[in-house]
Amino acid sequence: MTTHALSSPAPTGDPASAPAPLLEVVDLTVAAPGAGRRQPPLVQGASFTVHKGDVLCIVGSSGSGKSSLMKAVLGLYRFRSGVLRFGGRVVERPLDAAHRHLRRASQAVFQNPVASLNPHMSLLAGIAEPLSVRGVQPADRNRRAVALAGRMGLSPDVLARRPGQVSIGQCQRACLARALSTDPALLFLDEPLSALDAIVQRQVADLLTGIRREATATMVLITHDLRLVRRLGTHVVVVDRGRVVEQAPTERFFACPEHRQARALVESFHGREARRAALMRPATGLPARVVG
Ligand SMILES: Nc1ncnc2c1ncn2[C@@H]1O[C@H](COP(=O)(O)OP(=O)(O)OP(=O)(O)O)[C@@H](O)[C@H]1O
Ligand SMILES: [Mg+2]
Repeated sequence: MTTHALSSPAPTGDPASAPAPLLEVVDLTVAAPGAGRRQPPLVQGASFTVHKGDVLCIVGSSGSGKSSLMKAVLGLYRFRSGVLRFGGRVVERPLDAAHRHLRRASQAVFQNPVASLNPHMSLLAGIAEPLSVRGVQPADRNRRAVALAGRMGLSPDVLARRPGQVSIGQCQRACLARALSTDPALLFLDEPLSALDAIVQRQVADLLTGIRREATATMVLITHDLRLVRRLGTHVVVVDRGRVVEQAPTERFFACPEHRQARALVESFHGREARRAALMRPATGLPARVVG
């Protein structure tokens, strides 16, 4: 594995004075729900740390284990071995005290936005649900939900509908609004822009950039969109066939990726960017167009 220094800010002087990570994943091996001991794990020996203010981007090819890793941290998939620590407390098993602390302090946007919302609730009720669980009064939580939905470009008439009555992109925006409703200390985002058109993608990316700038949330962002990684990420973790094969600060990841898979991702990104730049460049040397 290629591992550049991952923690931020870089520790100086006495290591005891370096800030403790918010989330620590050490040598985690993840199994599918219901899988027997003989079945190979989905993720093997994954380690990374997330400090307050980080935007840790998890990248890698489809099926490499990115979502499984996130689901294991959130307690939806089991981990067979390894250590998970949140706020310095070790999670021994799903829903123990340390894990409940992690779940209360975090919010997640899952890859499948329609399945993440209660099909019997309106989008408005779905967005406001985490506030309801925290005892916020109906008028206050509805006001906040409508405001957040507005920032996601969801109009009040859409909010009255159920997940099955709106588009996937509208569900994804509702999931984002829901995840932001509690100002979580840690935000897990699994392909959060995948169902959105280019204009809304840019709006949501601007919103996430704003959140990052205000340092109000620490994020774990899973994405195939390396433009978003370059814009938002502080660190990158590359997963390949269930293993973390490289991790580096974002700048270094783009400048000198080392593992074969990391190099392939970065080279294809630079190729796409070069083609995009060529398309945007004004054509020269063409004959003037005569009109009329
Ligand atoms: N519940 C499950 N039971 C069995 N296998 C699973 C389960 N969930 C995921 N897998 C398998 O684990 C591997 C990793 O899946 P995962 O969804 O974590 O990949 P991913 O990196 O998120 O891919 P993508 O970029 O396509 O979302 C895949 O081979 C997938 O088929
Ligand atoms: Mg996935």
